[in-house]
Amino acid sequence: MESLKTYRKFLTTDYWTTQREGGYKTDQEKKLPLPAAQKGYSRDSVLIDLVELDQFGVGTIPLIDAIRMRRSRRKYSQQSLTLEELSFLLWATQGIQKRRKIYAGARGTLRTVPSGGARHPFETYLVINNVDTLKSGLYRYLPIENKLLYLRSGKSLSKKVAASCNNQNWIGKAALIFIWTAIPYRTEWRYSFIAAKTIAQESGHICQNLYLASEAIGAGTCAVGAYHQKELDNILGVDGEDELVVYIAPVGKI
Ligand SMILES: Cc1cc2nc3c(=O)[nH]c(=O)nc-3n(C[C@H](O)[C@H](O)[C@H](O)COP(=O)(O)O)c2cc1C
Repeated sequence: MESLKTYRKFLTTDYWTTQREGGYKTDQEKKLPLPAAQKGYSRDSVLIDLVELDQFGVGTIPLIDAIRMRRSRRKYSQQSLTLEELSFLLWATQGIQKRRKIYAGARGTLRTVPSGGARHPFETYLVINNVDTLKSGLYRYLPIENKLLYLRSGKSLSKKVAASCNNQNWIGKAALIFIWTAIPYRTEWRYSFIAAKTIAQESGHICQNLYLASEAIGAGTCAVGAYHQKELDNILGVDGEDELVVYIAPVGKI
């Protein structure tokens, strides 16, 4: 019961309560350095160019149709996705529209999804199985460069992810799997205690855009919240504290 109370407190704590009751100052108010908008990578990394927004020929169905058709889809065909379709899904979920917007006293990015204080706490990992021209393995999206960062190979990775999602085996049959992590400090820097709530709210925006963008290219997705935290953090090689998995969504043609 105590843990239920703690959880309810998490739901009802707001920025103003923490300030009034704790006299708390956020790291932004203390003028601590702004956290980076994107996780770093080594100079010798393999980067893959993605198709740019002004070159998209996909994703042009009317919005009303995408919303009308939206469904959680768990059965996928063997058809691959093209690099252009993947580029479209990445742009729809985390694509940057403006880079150096000053918002609420801090530099931020404006993207295709909203984020409290324009903090954008997420990183996008992809387990790729069946995308034209890309070899199977683990990748990370770099929204600032609009490129893919190749992390490592691994044909059985998608099966491992499915096993870590409570053995939901259909996940392993998708052409690719989106796995979003959060770097909580990006949001805590501005919002302190309420960051957890904000991050949970924001992950929904990303996944809904993935649902609609998938429908627009004849593909389908399904939000997955049933996963084993430590196992998935380990698969991605994140520490589970400063960066942790928050949401998963397999994608395949239908
Ligand atoms: C936060 C969240 C977590 C979910 N987790 C899973 C999951 O682990 N496995 C699954 O098959 N569906 C999962 N779903 C999908 C729901 O089952 C689905 O949205 C619901 O059945 C309604 O169907 P619809 O999305 O087609 O309207 C999840 C949905 C949300 C929003």
